[in-house]
Amino acid sequence: MNKMVKGLKVRRDIHEILFRIYKYNINVNNRFVQNIISKHKEEDIRLINNVVLNSMRYQFHTKKIINQYVKKKIKDDEKILLISSITQIVFLGFKEYAVVNCSVEIAKYKNIYHGFINAVLKKISSDKDKLIKTTLNYNELPHWFKIQTKNLTSNEKKLFIDSFFKEPNLHLVFKSKKEFDKFEEKIIKTSENSGFLQNKIKIEEIVSYREGNWWVQDFSSSFPIRSITKLDKYKKFLDMCAAPGGKSFQILSRNLNITLNDKSKARIKLMKNNLRRLKFNPRIINKNFENLDSDIKFDFIILDAPCSSIGTIRKNPEIFFKSKEPKITELVEIQSKMLKKASEMLELNGIILYMVCSFLYIETEHQIKDFLDKANSFRLEKFDVSPKIFEHSKLIKNSCILTVPNYILDNTVDGYFAALLKKIR
Ligand SMILES: C[S@@+](CC[C@H](N)C(=O)[O-])C[C@H]1O[C@@H](n2cnc3c(N)ncnc32)[C@H](O)[C@@H]1O
Repeated sequence: MNKMVKGLKVRRDIHEILFRIYKYNINVNNRFVQNIISKHKEEDIRLINNVVLNSMRYQFHTKKIINQYVKKKIKDDEKILLISSITQIVFLGFKEYAVVNCSVEIAKYKNIYHGFINAVLKKISSDKDKLIKTTLNYNELPHWFKIQTKNLTSNEKKLFIDSFFKEPNLHLVFKSKKEFDKFEEKIIKTSENSGFLQNKIKIEEIVSYREGNWWVQDFSSSFPIRSITKLDKYKKFLDMCAAPGGKSFQILSRNLNITLNDKSKARIKLMKNNLRRLKFNPRIINKNFENLDSDIKFDFIILDAPCSSIGTIRKNPEIFFKSKEPKITELVEIQSKMLKKASEMLELNGIILYMVCSFLYIETEHQIKDFLDKANSFRLEKFDVSPKIFEHSKLIKNSCILTVPNYILDNTVDGYFAALLKKIR
């Protein structure tokens, strides 16, 4: 097999994966997609992940470019082929002849008029130095997203539009300072037991990962539990939606008593693998939250609810790429029911830590306002974040943690929300 044909097989699979994500609203970690990827060798898997993820991240930039060069209406297959080819040529800086040749071959295979693909990509290749400067306007984002983010300030909108397509940095959380201090790789410290990994390394190849000294957890999602005063005074923790486990690992690493629940069998399996590696052995329940026994009380309930996940857009660019928008109304209803259930399972003076990896008003501030309006036995508590650490305190808003995808120490952090709700009567 010559080199060109080898590149063709990889790019055909890239096209197939992007097409399926778009058409069938699936994620990159879907079994079908992972099955296609796993048939390739390591070097090609890296290429596939790179092109698939970046094609989704740069889709608004590439669509803007397509609109400048193509005046006719195009089919889904043509659009996806152009999106991934332009991403490779303009934004990833790949050699254009290889990309154009493969795209022409894919066009033939897919019954797309290949002369059209060839002509458009050649023009774009010759203008690539100008096109790499393409910028976006907030109005070019999906309609549903603009409606849900009307309340963002112009600074927050600017932060989002300038950075939602950037590749995310990897943030690690260690069991304790002792494990952090022994870490063998370069890391930018965010606390005494966490930091951003500096070099791109496969985590499975790091000895201390295999030994169970740390796990991967975004800075934003680890920040709420880190910012609670005297966590040790609580005796019985419940994580209502625990899998794959990050928040519970933070509690377990402090030797506190926590029960982990999740509805999804597949995610529980993943969590058990993580727990085994980390050498934690807590009680696990596999129930829909509605079936948890309300007579068994806890004094701290972690509610990391299912949500639009829009705060993780850099890691999950599928959210914008899928042809269907997230079912926000359904999600908001589940979150509200989960909050009610948690309030019933909580001891007096206990705390609910409500979190979502979202910054949409309806899933965050509005959800909490609605809860407090209905349940007058609760009040909002403050997180313990020193205002002196400006980098961290910029994530706090109205006593809650609330941020669009942002930066800490020049590294990316997810968009996130967290609120502490104390049962006072
Ligand atoms: C945001 S994730 C939790 C992430 C987790 N806390 C962590 O730190 O790794 C939300 C979880 O809610 C679970 N979930 C969704 N609906 C549920 C339900 N009805 N009952 C219990 N768990 C549910 C999902 O399976 C998913 O694992």
